[in-house]
Amino acid sequence: SNDHSARTPDDGGLAESPFLLACRRLPVPHTPVWFMRQAGRSLPEYLRVREGVPMLESCTRPDMIVEITMQPLRRYAVDAAIFYSDIMVPLRAVGVDLDIKPGVGPVIADPIRDAAGLDVLRPLSPDDVPYVTEAVGGLVGELGATPLIGFAGGPFTLASYLIEGGPSKNHERTKAMMYGEPELWARLMERLADLTIAFLKVQVAAGASAVQVFDSWVGAVAAQDYREYVLPHARRVFAEIEPLGVPRIHFGVGTGELLGLMGEAGADVVGVDWRVPLDEAVSRVEPGKALQGNLDPAVLFAPWEIVERRARDVLARGRTAEGHIFNLGHGVLPSMDPDMLARLADLVHEASTDDPH
Ligand code: CP3
Repeated sequence: SNDHSARTPDDGGLAESPFLLACRRLPVPHTPVWFMRQAGRSLPEYLRVREGVPMLESCTRPDMIVEITMQPLRRYAVDAAIFYSDIMVPLRAVGVDLDIKPGVGPVIADPIRDAAGLDVLRPLSPDDVPYVTEAVGGLVGELGATPLIGFAGGPFTLASYLIEGGPSKNHERTKAMMYGEPELWARLMERLADLTIAFLKVQVAAGASAVQVFDSWVGAVAAQDYREYVLPHARRVFAEIEPLGVPRIHFGVGTGELLGLMGEAGADVVGVDWRVPLDEAVSRVEPGKALQGNLDPAVLFAPWEIVERRARDVLARGRTAEGHIFNLGHGVLPSMDPDMLARLADLVHEASTDDPH
């Protein structure tokens, strides 16, 4: 047993979970690991459960949410579960007409292009997402000492889907509003930040132990523009979540130039994609933050020896951080071999466990 972590009487051992310890930059028995998109199409058991059920409908069925969230934990020795939902769920819940099309992504029926378009973004109440409260409660009971990570989309990423009407490579309409109509942009970002805050609060109130904000596509924005057009809103999200007392992770793809600012936004943990080595990320992020990442997901398609060498390199560089949570640099890909991910989780634990003393 260790004496550096306080066990509160009725947390079921959660406070001593390696994932939460690492988020808090406390000593860990091994480096914790989980995989973004660990649930989903790479698992045959997921495809079976989802057969005939549209994506967004599956996110409203508590029994299905619990089952899909638990599936990767039966295969992988991961240190955390991530709630099965989608960043578009709170938008749908307040009445945005949208769908998630297989192989495409989110598609919005009436993209937001003007002030009148903002009206649909009313505040989210817990009563809008009773299935989230119910599913989180069920999961927390099943998970015991394994933490559940709640999540929401970051404001830039949500804005991009809403303005473009779907996935976008260049985010041209989004940036046209951001640069050309900064007041409208700010009002949109405020409403989206409110939705993100409300959605995270519902999950934490129901028992989630940590939260991750996925501002997946914010790497498309230059640092000076991030500071002006995104940071104030990201900062408010993290500030309003702080009193809940759970670790907050902030992640985006292609954010090498933004890592310092994404830390400044107020997260406890900065997620790093595979483009920036973790020891370099340490020098870009202010002290007092843990890092999460960052094996290139595509490495999983190389022979195991390569995966092992690369994973050990990530662990070695991660040791230069104040806390390290091992993850992929972005999500699990649908064609990935689950057996490789199982071996990877075991390797992370074995390779990061100190000699017995
Ligand atoms: O295991 C987990 O990580 C939890 C589940 C999760 C999903 N979406 C389920 C899902 C999480 C964390 C998300 C977040 C999400 N959704 C993000 C941010 C994460 C990232 O990848 O950067 C984004 C950008 C979205 C929007 C979205 N939803 C996309 C781009 C897609 C893929 C569309 C496709 O078919 O290629 C989705 C659908 C989606 N969300 C799936 C899953 C399991 C696949 C849907 C299916 O089964 O058909």
